[in-house]
Amino acid sequence: MSKIDNASAYDSGIYDSNIVNVLPYYTEFHAQVMDLVKTMGLNAPEWLDTGCGTGTLALRALSENNSIRFTLADPSAQMLEQARAKTGDKASYVNCGSHELSFENKFDVVTAIQSHHYYDKPGREQAVKHCYDALKEGGVFVTFENIKMSTEASDAIGLKRWENFLSKSFDQEEVKRHIDRRGVEVFPITIEEHLKLLKECGFASVNVLWQSYLQAGFWAIK
Ligand SMILES: C[S@@+](CC[C@H](N)C(=O)[O-])C[C@H]1O[C@@H](n2cnc3c(N)ncnc32)[C@H](O)[C@@H]1O
Repeated sequence: MSKIDNASAYDSGIYDSNIVNVLPYYTEFHAQVMDLVKTMGLNAPEWLDTGCGTGTLALRALSENNSIRFTLADPSAQMLEQARAKTGDKASYVNCGSHELSFENKFDVVTAIQSHHYYDKPGREQAVKHCYDALKEGGVFVTFENIKMSTEASDAIGLKRWENFLSKSFDQEEVKRHIDRRGVEVFPITIEEHLKLLKECGFASVNVLWQSYLQAGFWAIK
């Protein structure tokens, strides 16, 4: 794992072709974000995507609305390069993790899609707080994250469902590699813990956007 050029399970150059087979409904995460932002009437938003990865969300958003002013952040220089190849001068780029963001009251939208599950509890709190600080008053934070089910028994069922999904595309060894990252390289928390964290960071309105398998989306207004 140490050779991989970012914290995800795949090198930046093969991330896009693999991620759709790792996370059920991956493309739906981005569709949900777009639907929410459009519904909120944000026509030319200043938008920070932290943990942008290869820039897939930004590319999709720009293809629907060319007026969005994107800032893309990621601690992996290689991921950021992949993003730059997709969005070029349509975005500006920041090479840092969410806990290192230093924006204040700048953005209408901040997104963090599958990028905060590498943090321990204090690190995650710091990351979300920095996303909060980066937003203007009334701005929206949208995040999708790996989740833990509310009991060990239901978590085991959730894991089995994910294992079945992974097995459609990967051999047994690769499936095990993904499952074994949980609790070692990625640290999912429950939906209740996500909502509590968002409230503790100061968001005025905290909501679930979407949930299936072991992923959930949340949106919160500053
Ligand atoms: C699973 S990928 C998700 C990428 C992208 N958001 C997407 O929707 O495909 C996780 C991304 O989070 C980035 N990442 C890792 N640690 C991070 C941190 N501390 N803060 C922000 N992003 C981080 C990784 O470099 C990687 O690009």
